[in-house]
Amino acid sequence: MPPPPEAAPRQPLAVAVVHGPNLNLLGVREPHVYGTKTLADVNRAIEGEAAAIGVGVECFQSNSEGSILDYLADARDRVDGVLINPAGLGHTSVALLDGLLGTSKPFVEVHLSNPASRESFRQRSMIASAATGVVAGFGVDSYLSGLRCLCNFLVRQRGVAE
Ligand code: DQA
Repeated sequence: MPPPPEAAPRQPLAVAVVHGPNLNLLGVREPHVYGTKTLADVNRAIEGEAAAIGVGVECFQSNSEGSILDYLADARDRVDGVLINPAGLGHTSVALLDGLLGTSKPFVEVHLSNPASRESFRQRSMIASAATGVVAGFGVDSYLSGLRCLCNFLVRQRGVAE
């Protein structure tokens, strides 16, 4: 009898990491709230975590809502999920919610600070109800935990689909 065919190796997971408006100023912008790490530091930490888990990440930041929407539409065929710090857009943007839904991919919302403990206008999220989960208040660790949780979720989802 011929040996059973080997299962095709699975592609490693790929995650798009999106940073919203003003996060390019990390390190100098209200460091008492957002910490002293720069966006480059945050991206390095995310890439290190991704390497440790064995997933691919691509990091993107823009101050322009339209560029973020274009990026999401472009990334939908390349990635399995999205990790997003929507920054101020999370509190206001139906278009961002629609853009995330348009990817048809699970997403996790993260914040460096804990918006729930801040001004009332930060306590509304336009995207949280559609998110797989939300991690907030842990500084850079919000991204790292969010990435791990998203990847665990995607692995379980793959298992169910097989
Ligand atoms: C933030 C919280 C938002 O309220 C704020 O507009 C930001 C950053 C955070 O990471 O804590 O720009 O998303």
